[in-house]
Amino acid sequence: MYDPWLTFALVWGTFCVGLSQGEVETRECVFYNDNWRTERTNQSGLERCEGEKDKRLHCYASWLNSSGTIRLVKKGCWLDDFNCYDRQECVATEENPQVFFCCCEGNYCNEKFTHLPEALAPAVKIRPPPPSPSVLSVLVYSLLPLCLLCLLLLVGGWLYRQRKPPYGHVDLGEDPGLPSTSPLEGLKPLQLLEIKARGRFGCVWKAQLMSEHVAVKIFPIQDKQSWQNERDIFLTPGMRHENLLHFIAAEKRGTNLQMELWLITEFHERGSLTDYLKGNVVSWPELCLMSGSMCRGLAYLHEDLPYRPEDPKPAIAHRDFKSRNVLLKTDLTAVIADFGLAVRFEPGIPPGDTHGQVGTRRYMAPEVLEGAINFQRDAFLRIDMYALGLVLWEVISRCTAVDGPVEEYAPPFEEQLGQHPSLEDLQDVVVHKKMRPLFRDCWLKHQGLAQLCETIEECWDHDAEARLSAGCVEERIAQVSRATSNNTTTSDYLVSVVTSVANLDIPLKGSST
Ligand SMILES: *[C@@H]1O[C@H](CO)[C@@H](O)[C@H](O)[C@H]1NC(C)=O
Ligand SMILES: *[C@@H]1O[C@H](CO)[C@@H](O)[C@H](O)[C@H]1NC(C)=O
Repeated sequence: MYDPWLTFALVWGTFCVGLSQGEVETRECVFYNDNWRTERTNQSGLERCEGEKDKRLHCYASWLNSSGTIRLVKKGCWLDDFNCYDRQECVATEENPQVFFCCCEGNYCNEKFTHLPEALAPAVKIRPPPPSPSVLSVLVYSLLPLCLLCLLLLVGGWLYRQRKPPYGHVDLGEDPGLPSTSPLEGLKPLQLLEIKARGRFGCVWKAQLMSEHVAVKIFPIQDKQSWQNERDIFLTPGMRHENLLHFIAAEKRGTNLQMELWLITEFHERGSLTDYLKGNVVSWPELCLMSGSMCRGLAYLHEDLPYRPEDPKPAIAHRDFKSRNVLLKTDLTAVIADFGLAVRFEPGIPPGDTHGQVGTRRYMAPEVLEGAINFQRDAFLRIDMYALGLVLWEVISRCTAVDGPVEEYAPPFEEQLGQHPSLEDLQDVVVHKKMRPLFRDCWLKHQGLAQLCETIEECWDHDAEARLSAGCVEERIAQVSRATSNNTTTSDYLVSVVTSVANLDIPLKGSST
């Protein structure tokens, strides 16, 4: 005799224990780094893993094997991943990979690693033990609704996994023209973690590439043009700059209809300037740092450096400059991102697709709103400068240097036109009425802010040719920042002058012998 309820309790008990195992988790893994773009100082040692509640933690190892000669690539912590569940040993199961990868569960389990192709390795699965046939009929009736639910979840999960494998390999092999700073770069295991933003062209994911976080922008195949354009801009010589987003790799994934285009870049946890301003106010020194570094990035992007022997760089116009496309590093330095619409200007080469009215409506310069731009390099650079003026205004609007309360964040022109201005609304306000976002009276009482407001007015001038260049704005911000960085500096300076005068051996009247 058997008791169906006991069977039920046993089966589900086993299942639930299996599920709840990951609730409290601490993990230490052997750490090793072959020293590729890393901020860690330790070449090897331990890594204490940090995870979230209800997530499991694993260790991993990756290595190269050229006919028996093993070269370790990396070891460390690996986040919750179904592929590593209940593996006590670190075993690579892929048949013949370029870089071997294994993960496992248990402290220091990645110390040793082996290769055992899938065909030979016993598969590890979490699944309740199959009940005997007589039990089955009872279970079918009592659990039918639950099973249907499970089935739905499983199918959903399977579809999701089909779409977004939890990790894959970054593969640069397809495009021979792609430079790569390290031959290993295209071979690191990549783990998608969470969606961070949805943009005009698909989604941006936070992902794990070995022990680093990276951003993966996924374009649907219809947006190939923009993926290609952004990749080409990133690969333009001289694009490495501390205030421009760093590119890591570009790749095509999947086949034909399922194809996705990936762009892998550095990841910045703080996200965009818009998000930061929504949640935070900024002090005067922070304002100087953010806007100064933002202008430095834009000035560099605009700069034409044809004769630099190592790294000649053409002028590049961004064409979609806005606070959402400026990212912030941990220390609040700005980094310019999203080059999907950018254009390069090289002598003798047509700049490619230069449609007139592109970019984000709210940030369109009057000449763009009117559809009256000429296709010259400088015209495009001046359009960026207009948008820069609006972004600087956004930063000032959240600055605490003024007396009195700081208002909530609002994008430019929201005051005049609300949240979703039409093209006609903007044409009316920006082109015909020549209105711009307003400066508050209290801003003008602060010496630095007042000077910055003057500069902003010269950025968004109606007459495009009268607008300042990014380099000039960068310089002005540096000056204002220096002049106000310390009000005590002036008196310090006077003290030092007085002291140095006092120390001079000026013969006093009557003291000469
Ligand atoms: C580096 O290793 C030492 C011990 O070898 C350890 O105390 C320290 O926390 C490690 N640093 C990092 C960044 O992992
Ligand atoms: C390295 O490759 C050899 C064969 O070329 C194989 O026998 C060995 O198991 C491999 N070792 C690892 C750790 O991948």
